[in-house]
Amino acid sequence: MSNEPPTDSGLSADGTSGVASDPTARTAAALVVEGITVAYGPAEAVRDLSLSVNAGSLVALIGANGAGKSSTLAAISGLVRPRRGRVLFAGQDVTRWRSSRRVAAGIVQVPEGREILATMTVHENLMLGAWHQAQGFEAGVQEIYQRFPILGERRALLAGSLSGGEQQMLAIARALLAHPRVLLMDEPSMGLAPQIVDEVFAVIERIRKEGTTVLLVEQNAQRALQAADYAYVMETGELVLEGPADELLANPKVVEAYLGESLSGEDGLEGRSFDDGDADAPRRTSG
Ligand SMILES: Nc1ncnc2c1ncn2[C@@H]1O[C@H](COP(=O)(O)OP(=O)(O)OP(=O)(O)O)[C@@H](O)[C@H]1O
Ligand SMILES: [Mg+2]
Repeated sequence: MSNEPPTDSGLSADGTSGVASDPTARTAAALVVEGITVAYGPAEAVRDLSLSVNAGSLVALIGANGAGKSSTLAAISGLVRPRRGRVLFAGQDVTRWRSSRRVAAGIVQVPEGREILATMTVHENLMLGAWHQAQGFEAGVQEIYQRFPILGERRALLAGSLSGGEQQMLAIARALLAHPRVLLMDEPSMGLAPQIVDEVFAVIERIRKEGTTVLLVEQNAQRALQAADYAYVMETGELVLEGPADELLANPKVVEAYLGESLSGEDGLEGRSFDDGDADAPRRTSG
């Protein structure tokens, strides 16, 4: 795929959390989320969340069940309208754009649970990924079949007959057909056997190497941090920690809270003092 990462977006990263300590801060931010609050009725699923994803980087957003990860992605892809705050893409305020316009601009999501159409064939599912393209669709699909030979072999089969890993590949392939500049991935490893998780992560890392910016939501914190450049940790609607992924991976508190057996709230980071001079905290790193 020939996805050029957005070059100079004209977007100032100043004042955006995470950018100052990011070694790739020289590159422009592809995506900036500024103080968004997402609420479903009276319940706030995301509160005053800000993050920044540099062009060409792979950024992970990790956290336990119900932390607000998918709600954050929904605000970025336009599936929900944040109650407060802004979403900027390549320097443009897209907060009020419909999701179809965001897809056309290059903000493309691989949804949680894959959302492939089980009673349609693999090929038909891929056609849906290219719905907005007037031409070049066939070439795009052939490219996908070369890249994911298993999908080519299974092109005439019902998507529902594929294994979980194959369905995830199909969901990713469908998103790639929309020519993402920023690919939003919601728990791509969910429910997959470890070996298949490895394959999915290999695909994600390749997509990023080819120049597509990736924002990856995962409960599999270990794998996400291994793949990512930079990461944010969410708990109950708020960011509690951020830093270069390798530093988070090496942080004993992150290991304890997210990389052990338990992902329960009691083991979380909330209430711990990352903001008040904690020597182990990776939030502030010297460049
Ligand atoms: N459509 C909705 N209506 C009402 N509440 C919702 C809706 N979607 C999410 N929520 C609530 O918002 C909070 C955050 O949910 P969200 O799905 O964003 O979390 P998550 O981090 O993606 O969790 P998971 O890891 O389980 O996917 C939860 O309390 C959830 O119950
Ligand atoms: Mg979710």
